[in-house]
Amino acid sequence: KDGRIAGISAAIRVIPDFPKPGILFQDITTLLLDPKAFKDTIDLFVERYKDKNISVVAGIEARGFIFGPPIALAIGAKFVPMRKPNKLPGEVISEEYSLEYGTDKMEMHVGAVQAGERALVIDDLIATGGTLCAAISLLERVGVHVVECACVIELEYLKDGGGAAIRGEESAAEGGRRVGTG
Ligand code: PRP
Ligand code: MG
Repeated sequence: KDGRIAGISAAIRVIPDFPKPGILFQDITTLLLDPKAFKDTIDLFVERYKDKNISVVAGIEARGFIFGPPIALAIGAKFVPMRKPNKLPGEVISEEYSLEYGTDKMEMHVGAVQAGERALVIDDLIATGGTLCAAISLLERVGVHVVECACVIELEYLKDGGGAAIRGEESAAEGGRRVGTG
């Protein structure tokens, strides 16, 4: 395993019972305070995605907005925000998705991406994969090919093999919320 992973992992603070009892919150703000660990995080993604002909990095609000842009700049791709409902001012397409309790909506500007483009989806953390699946659906609805989804953190108890990068086409093909590692 890459020696940088231990440093990244150590820089992420775990806070019990936030935002509610029983939840072990993965706090990436401490990773951002450590320039070496933050840079290693971005570098690992850049090394994996730089030669994959990716023209779109789609970042999921809110913490995908922290990790997505530096990756986009480094690989020469544009950055497209995938936002919470009613935040984007232009025409949007939206996708509803289920959370542990209830549903949420994700929106993307129409015209931000073109059919045939190749996208990487970035977020801070994957739990059930529902959020990433919504992002994949939005992009695929407008004809974009999702090359991969990648997160900084994958929750251990939901883990399905090594690595936090998941293959978009795999999860889409399964048509569900289960995502495989790739
Ligand atoms: C958290 C996390 C991921 C998502 C993962 O975001 O930042 O985006 O949950 O969960 P899933 O894999 O089960 O879909 P949250 O919805 O709490 O919103 P936030 O990022 O705006 O705080
Ligand atoms: Mg989130």
